[in-house]
Amino acid sequence: MITGSPRGTSDIFGQDIEYRNFIISKAKELFKIFNYREIITPAFEHTEVFDKSIGDSTDIVQKEMYTFLDKRGRSLTLRPEGTAPVVRAVIEHKMYAENLPLKLYYIENMFRYERPQKGRMREFWQLGVEAIGSGQAFIDAEVIWVLNALFEKLRFKNLKLLINSIGCTKCRKEYIQVLKNYLSPKKDKLCPDCQYRLEKNPLRIFDCKVDQCRQVIKDSPKIYSYICVDCRQHFNQVTDFLKTLGISFIIKEDLVRGFDYYTRTIFEIISEDLKSVQNALGGGGRYDKLIEQFGGPDIPSIGFAVGLERTYILMKQLKLNFVIGDNKKIALVILMDRSYQKYALSLIKFTRDNGYACDLSYEIKSIGSQIKWAEKNAYDFVIIIGEDEVKTDSCTIKDIKKFTQYKLSWKNEKEKIFKIFGS
Ligand code: HAM
Repeated sequence: MITGSPRGTSDIFGQDIEYRNFIISKAKELFKIFNYREIITPAFEHTEVFDKSIGDSTDIVQKEMYTFLDKRGRSLTLRPEGTAPVVRAVIEHKMYAENLPLKLYYIENMFRYERPQKGRMREFWQLGVEAIGSGQAFIDAEVIWVLNALFEKLRFKNLKLLINSIGCTKCRKEYIQVLKNYLSPKKDKLCPDCQYRLEKNPLRIFDCKVDQCRQVIKDSPKIYSYICVDCRQHFNQVTDFLKTLGISFIIKEDLVRGFDYYTRTIFEIISEDLKSVQNALGGGGRYDKLIEQFGGPDIPSIGFAVGLERTYILMKQLKLNFVIGDNKKIALVILMDRSYQKYALSLIKFTRDNGYACDLSYEIKSIGSQIKWAEKNAYDFVIIIGEDEVKTDSCTIKDIKKFTQYKLSWKNEKEKIFKIFGS
């Protein structure tokens, strides 16, 4: 017996696939309206792509990356997130030479060696956007608008949009000194990781989940009060635009998000409906210096990512139902004898060629049990083929939801089947 899938991974099938496809289709509608184009990057990158961007004092880089040496001894890492690979691709292909801002989206699997829980996995899917090439507050509001509109389209109600500014590289430096001065006398109370963070990058202490560290950091000075005049003005513009758009938000002064690449605006969308599920459904922010840091031009950018699994786990629990796609009816062909398979084939071919899902029941069982099976499997119609139908070149169609029945001469009026399907 083979063992199950690796811890923290899952097979996605059945209802989850339907939910997933629904979320993706709604997101794609929005991406079209907001003019985002798709990009697909490799599942693994040179490790430095992540080390250099996410930051070596972050949880992701320190503990969660799937890093391995390939057969030539090169260090590669399965992508834990999508922003750094997109930035690497933009620079590699000089996409910034096109009209800016460049608006890209991706739907990709990510890998983080985390402690698995419901909604927290080692392989998970994100859909994300990156708007490369504008520092204007307008685009911050527009990116947040896409995120908010997606959850509106999915019919979520009790979500909270948290927003903060963590300043630019200049004002952050000053704040970090203030934070260091505040935390240094309390160093002994911090966990070993945070003691290291205090030296390397004290901002990361806000990400720590250890209770004692949370207590220590709780009353510390918050970056929001230390941002410079330009950053404050930028942030005020963002919130002003959000108000104009009718998007409600909460300013969360201790929100920092666990990536070193962020500057200025950061945000998260959380659900408080179900405490058992990881509550952050999506998050993002500006990364004005990342492209330059990677050796590209000085181009400010902003983006976000949404976790697909968390979103559909919650949709299912909140019973946010939906209608999929074109809503075409589906039929099951039931044979009274296996020798009618050839007869059924031309019928199935005709309906499938015309875009209708039509299956053949391979088992020869009583009509009653087959209809029950069709009902259980969400078919709308059964098409019965027995001796009489074959003799008269016809078929009997039963609408199993409306309990109506039709007999159709296959030779003369087969197109009528679509009228019945559409009824
Ligand atoms: P992030 O907050 O790490 O941001 O991830 C975004 C979303 O991915 C989370 O809100 C969550 O829904 C989902 N997610 C994260 N980790 C897991 C996990 N272990 N299992 C299941 N779902 C998870 C980023 O990744 C940034 N790259 C977002 C961004 C784009 N910032 C700028 N551009």
